[in-house]
Formats: sequence, C-alpha cells, structure tokens
Amino acid sequence: MKIVIVGSGYVGLVTGACFSEVGIDVTCVDIDHNKIENLNKGIIPIYEPGLEDMIVRNMKKGRLSFTTNIAEALQGAEVLFISVGTPPDEDGSADLKYVLAVARDCGKHINDYLLVVTKSTVPVGTSAKVKQALQEELDNRNVTIEFDVASNPEFLKEGAAIDDFLKPDRIVVGIESERAEDLLKSLYKPFTLNGHPVIFMDIVSAEMTKYAANSMLATKISFINDIANLCEIVGADINKVRKGIGSDSRIGQKFLYAGIGYGGSCFPKDVQALIKTASEYNYDLRVLKAVEEVNKDQKLVLFNKIINYFGGEIKGKTIALWGLSFKPQTDDMREAPSLSIVKNLLEAGATVKAYDPIAINEAKHHFGNSISYCEDQYETLIDADCLAILTEWPEFKFPNLKIVHKLLNTAVIFDGRNIYDREEIRESGFDYFCIGVDT
Ligand code: NAD
Ligand code: UGA
Repeated sequence: MKIVIVGSGYVGLVTGACFSEVGIDVTCVDIDHNKIENLNKGIIPIYEPGLEDMIVRNMKKGRLSFTTNIAEALQGAEVLFISVGTPPDEDGSADLKYVLAVARDCGKHINDYLLVVTKSTVPVGTSAKVKQALQEELDNRNVTIEFDVASNPEFLKEGAAIDDFLKPDRIVVGIESERAEDLLKSLYKPFTLNGHPVIFMDIVSAEMTKYAANSMLATKISFINDIANLCEIVGADINKVRKGIGSDSRIGQKFLYAGIGYGGSCFPKDVQALIKTASEYNYDLRVLKAVEEVNKDQKLVLFNKIINYFGGEIKGKTIALWGLSFKPQTDDMREAPSLSIVKNLLEAGATVKAYDPIAINEAKHHFGNSISYCEDQYETLIDADCLAILTEWPEFKFPNLKIVHKLLNTAVIFDGRNIYDREEIRESGFDYFCIGVDT
C-alpha cells in the first residue's frame, strides 16, 4: 500500500518512519522547503530517540521519501494522513487553517479514490469541515471522485514516540464507511498483531477521545500537584501518598508525579481548546478550568521557594539551573516550566546559569543572551548561590555531591522534580527543598 503523510513535524515524521519500518511505501510532505531539503539529506529537524536511524534506514530501502509536492505524492496513494499543526488561536480554540489547507490541496489534486485521515489533534466537527473543503475543490474542478474522511488521533509522547507508535496502548479510529474501516484495519495490522487493539467508533467520538485523554492526564497532574502543596502544609510526604493511592488499580501509578506543572506543545493547548469547544456549546467545563489554574500557579512554586529561602530578595544572586526542556529526552521548550521560572528569576534581579543535555539551542531562541549557557552541569555551579532542578534528565539523578557542595556558594538544592532522596542530600550537608514534602 502507498500512503502520504502531510506535515513532517513530530507526529508526521514518527508516523511516516514507523509505517515505512513495517514495509509500507510512505511519502512525507511538508510546505517547509528547508525542512524537506534537510530530510532528503538525512538531517532530522527534531531530537527524538531512535528517529534518525529509522528514517535513514527506510530512506535507503526506498520505502520512505520526502517532498514538497503533494500532487506528485498523491499519485497512486490510497490513504493520506493529515499531521500538520493545530496551534491555539488568539481565543484559545484550535486554528484549523493548516488542516483545511491540506484538505483543499487533496481536492485540487486527487484523480482516484482517497481516504483522508486526520491525525492532527482537532476539535469535534473538524472531519466534517475537511470533507466539505475537499468536496468544494472537487466541485470547482467539476469532477466526481469518491473519497472518505476518518479521524485517527495520535497518542504518542515526545521522547518515547517510536515505542508509543510501534506498541500502542490502543489505536483510536473514527470512520463512517466500511471501505475506510477496511483500509485502516489493514494498514494498522502490523502494529496490532501482538494484542494492541484498534478501537473503531464514529468520527465525532474519536475527535472527542483525543481531547478527553489529554485533559484527563493533565487533570491527574494538576490534582497531584494540588495535593502536594497541601502535603507540605500538613506535614505529609507526596511521594508516599502517590504510592499509597497509585497502588489502587482504579487510580494507577502513572502520571501522578508532582512537579513544577505540565508543559509541552499539547496539554496546555488541548486543555484550553476543550474549554473553548465546551463554551461554544454553552457548557462550562469547571474541572478543566481549575486544572489550568492550578498548573499556572504550579509553574511558580519552585521560584517562590527560592525567593523565600533567600528572605524575599534574590537581586544579585546567581541561580544554577539543571534542565530547561519541558521533560527529559526532548529538546522541546514549548510551554516548558523553565520559561516562567527564568522569566521570574530575571525580573527579580537574579543571574541565571543553565545546562540542558539537549535543549540549549532551543533555549537560545527563547532566552537569547539574558542567561548564560554551560557546557556541563557542574559548570553552572561555579559562583552560584543555589541549584534548581527543572527537568529530570537521567544524568542529574546521581550527581557528585562533594563537587556540588564545593562549588556552590550556599549549599542548597531546589528540586522541582523530586529526583533525590531527601535524607541522603541532607546528610551530605545541603538544605533541600522539593515538591510536596514538608521541609
Ligand atoms: P509540528 O509543528 O512539529 O509539525 C507540523 C508540520 O506541518 C510543520 O513541519 C509544518 O511546516 C507542516 N505544515 C503546515 N501546513 C502544511 C501544509 N499545508 N502542507 C504541508 N505541511 C504543512 O507539529 P506536531 O508536533 O507534529 O503536531 C501536529 C499535530 O499533532 C498537532 O495537532 C498536535 O496537537 C498533534 N499531536 C502532537 C503530538 C506531539 O507530541 N508533538 C502528539 C500527539 C498529537
Ligand atoms: C502528551 C501525552 O502524554 C501524549 O499521550 C499525547 O499524545 C501528547 O501529549 C500530545 O497530544 O501531544 P507529551 O506532551 O509529549 O505527551 O509529554 P508527557 O509525557 O505527557 O508530559 C507532559 C508534561 O507533563 C511534562 O511537562 C511532564 O513533566 C509533565 N508530567 C507528566 C508531570 O508533571 N507529572 C507526571 O506524572 C507526568
């Protein structure tokens, strides 16, 4: 089978690479000429473990190619996935202009049956708009060509995207024709043989499932962060509480880690977009509004701890930061808690020295020369007054505490990701502050 993926970002590249890996003939399309030129040279625009190897391997096998020409890519293709961005509009709703532009391109260029599958995260009703836009272009051409639309939201996590795609918990597919169901069943067969299920449903339910899933996960995080803040006040330990509640299988252990708030390109935008969708139907999603509010405040919890420790004044202090990306194993800085923390530290008159294993180049786009960037985690500590952990990269988990103690002006660590054993750090002579534990 030959398929086309339009939009060669995180989702498009992972989808294209994984389908080609199982032997499907894939053409990835993007309007960004520079990106396609680089991809054709084997240069991958994002950091995602395992992706570069998989792309290069499948390009060499002739199963994966990249182009800016959608008309050419469509020749002989039966299925097209839309995986372009759906960034927030000014009012918080998802901007569909890129998705609908692809639908129009399809209408302009198809000559045979095509199944158009929306993989981008899109609000309820979008597939109907895709169908309408495509049909309008066919009408403009005065031709009758059969096509179907389907919804197939993507659930991959950055940093673990390949594994999530190859071994999904489930694949959700919204369809409205048997032909579409058969095509997607056979396309996903290689991924479902080991018991990973495809769940077929109507299109509106599939569109809703994606937002409900991300909103549920964001809710778990804001809930545990809220409880963590209360733990600090009443003298409980969130790490113990998490284990205590997570071992109830109805609650589960995952996504219950307290921290400095959720970031990334999806939770913040998708929670906001679902609230907006609800309001368009005159429904007030009160729980999600609280989730957003808690998350906004949580991004400042670590900053407040630093300020309090230094008696309300950090002007002239130097703060060492370990980790800037919104989570480990990615260079993505979108909505990262580090953005709010650095902004506040600088506004309070502090100097910031930061290290991240992968995200320094991305960070430079956000912070420019306002902070200094170090090549090594220990370099940040030279002349620094404290250390703050913002991302739980594995290499931060077992530091040489003697060196840390020797280099820091004040032996104090603010751990925004609860990666250390409090007693051990204290025994090494540090003051130690983390999230959700009375200190
Ligand atoms: P991205 O910004 O990394 O990539 C989008 C790509 O689409 C860009 O390369 C852009 O140039 C291209 N594009 C835009 N308009 C185009 C057009 N008309 N024709 C061809 N290419 C076009 O986006 P992403 O992170 O891959 O996200 C894509 C969608 O998937 C979003 O709706 C997002 O919410 C959803 N999603 C993302 C993730 C994730 O982890 N990043 C996970 C699940 C779902
Ligand atoms: C998230 C979802 O997990 C994916 O299923 C979904 O496909 C994707 O959004 C999307 O729609 O784009 P991602 O944003 O890559 O994936 O990252 P997550 O691992 O979910 O982490 C998001 C944020 O939550 C990070 O800032 C992370 O630090 C934070 N988090 C996560 C916590 O604070 N605590 C936790 O227990 C888990």
